[in-house]
Amino acid sequence: MPWGFYGRTEELRLIAEILSRDRWFFAKMTGRRRIGKTTLIQQTIQMTAARPVFYVQIPDSGPAGVLSAVADAMESFGIPTDRFSSPTTLAEFAQLIGSLARAGYVVVLDEFQYFNRRLLQPFCSSLQAVVDVLSAEADRVPGGLIVLGSIHTEMTAILENRSAPLYNRTTDEIALSHLDIASVLVILHEHADTSPDRLLFCGYEVQTPSPYKGVCVSTKKKLVSRRK
Ligand SMILES: Nc1ncnc2c1ncn2[C@@H]1O[C@H](COP(=O)(O)OP(=O)(O)OP(=O)(O)O)[C@@H](O)[C@H]1O
Ligand SMILES: [Mg+2]
Repeated sequence: MPWGFYGRTEELRLIAEILSRDRWFFAKMTGRRRIGKTTLIQQTIQMTAARPVFYVQIPDSGPAGVLSAVADAMESFGIPTDRFSSPTTLAEFAQLIGSLARAGYVVVLDEFQYFNRRLLQPFCSSLQAVVDVLSAEADRVPGGLIVLGSIHTEMTAILENRSAPLYNRTTDEIALSHLDIASVLVILHEHADTSPDRLLFCGYEVQTPSPYKGVCVSTKKKLVSRRK
């Protein structure tokens, strides 16, 4: 059976609720490394096909690299260039996010923590200016912005540090923790070789995503105690 998407019902419900407001939002998605943030966003994009989405994975590079990634993403997501021109500066990129939100787009910036790097920091000030205008007229802005990143400390530095330009600007938090046990059992049912020796091996060795590892280990403990 191919690997699918599992669980996250509550998080998907929250995202659907945020989008259904048709009102400006600035959501941060939090959760430790490899917990499933990017996968959840990809699932959201598939499930909200009626809603225009612009997703960019921010590269670990300087402004030119970021702008190049933005241009590529504009092409991939079919952003009409007669309405939205490709940004040539980070300030223009912030403006583009505002224009897309006004047009109803859900803008997603993955690996957002790179904007904490010195060369990219001016973007946060530009985005602050855009965000403040949008939030002042939130009920006339049908789209919004979701940011997520893999390095928690840097995300915190950008969004929660009192001296940071974007401090206190987010409207929602989508917090991810481990997959629920029912989903993990579905995964085991669909994908695991459930022979005891294989599960014991799984508990120690398999490099599965971390959300599933704890269950393998607890299954191992049960099997060990059953064998005694
Ligand atoms: N709900 C899910 N269903 C199935 N597989 C999942 C799910 N969530 C995560 N995974 C798998 O776990 C792995 C890590 O997920 P993902 O890359 O989305 O995590 P992340 O939080 O974005 O990581 P990082 O912090 O490094 O950016 C991927 O291989 C993905 O396929
Ligand atoms: Mg990720």
